Amino acid sequence: MFGTDKADGHFYLQHYQKHFRPYKFKNIKLLEIGVGGYEHHDYGGHSLRMWKSYFWHGKIHALDIYDKSALQENRIKIFKGSQVDLKFLDKTITEIGDLDIIIDDGSHINEHVITTFKHLFPKLKSGGIYVIEDTQTSYWKDKGGDSDNMNNPETMMSFFKSLTDGLNHKEYVKPGYEPTYFDENIIAIHFYHNLIFIYKGQNDEPSNLIVNNQRG
Ligand SMILES: C[S@@+](CC[C@H](N)C(=O)[O-])C[C@H]1O[C@@H](n2cnc3c(N)ncnc32)[C@H](O)[C@@H]1O
Repeated sequence: MFGTDKADGHFYLQHYQKHFRPYKFKNIKLLEIGVGGYEHHDYGGHSLRMWKSYFWHGKIHALDIYDKSALQENRIKIFKGSQVDLKFLDKTITEIGDLDIIIDDGSHINEHVITTFKHLFPKLKSGGIYVIEDTQTSYWKDKGGDSDNMNNPETMMSFFKSLTDGLNHKEYVKPGYEPTYFDENIIAIHFYHNLIFIYKGQNDEPSNLIVNNQRG
């Protein structure tokens, strides 16, 4: 579909459809890290065109380390910079405004994925979704992964697994425990084959998830 490997290569679309359906007709803002096509300035953008078609009223933004401005069109805006350049990320987010959906399909380097998430998740709207693609690199040495120690804290799978306990932080029998930002702002984490969806919100608010699912 639209030439993106999200369909045939990885079979992610079934999961995207399930999680994104409640947003399909909303006036959302999406940011995808990684345009595709690497150094070829006029190649890539397949997923951006798919998102534009799927989200009828969505504003689609993307960033890539290479200049991809040639691929911009109505409702698709592309920024040039690295996903681990925090100043660039701040400037980009200030220009875009509040984001409903962030998808990390960039370098897939473990350290990058974790750094980008730590910086951008706090900028996501409450009720928003943060997606990490291609988590298989969590096991690949050349991307900073590890196939021997599944609890290596430098890998993305280990990092995201570590956030799951925080969903239950109110149940800890640990007087004086200070909840982390992630404890207080993550309401669900869905792990699939090579793909993770992280939902932002607060557990003691009426659940955005329930409202969304009823609509979906
Ligand atoms: C797998 S492709 C993206 C594919 C596209 N999202 C799609 O589904 O059609 C990865 C892209 O990430 C870009 N990239 C690699 N390292 C990056 C970094 N540090 N910051 C931002 N983009 C990066 C590459 O230039 C490449 O275009």
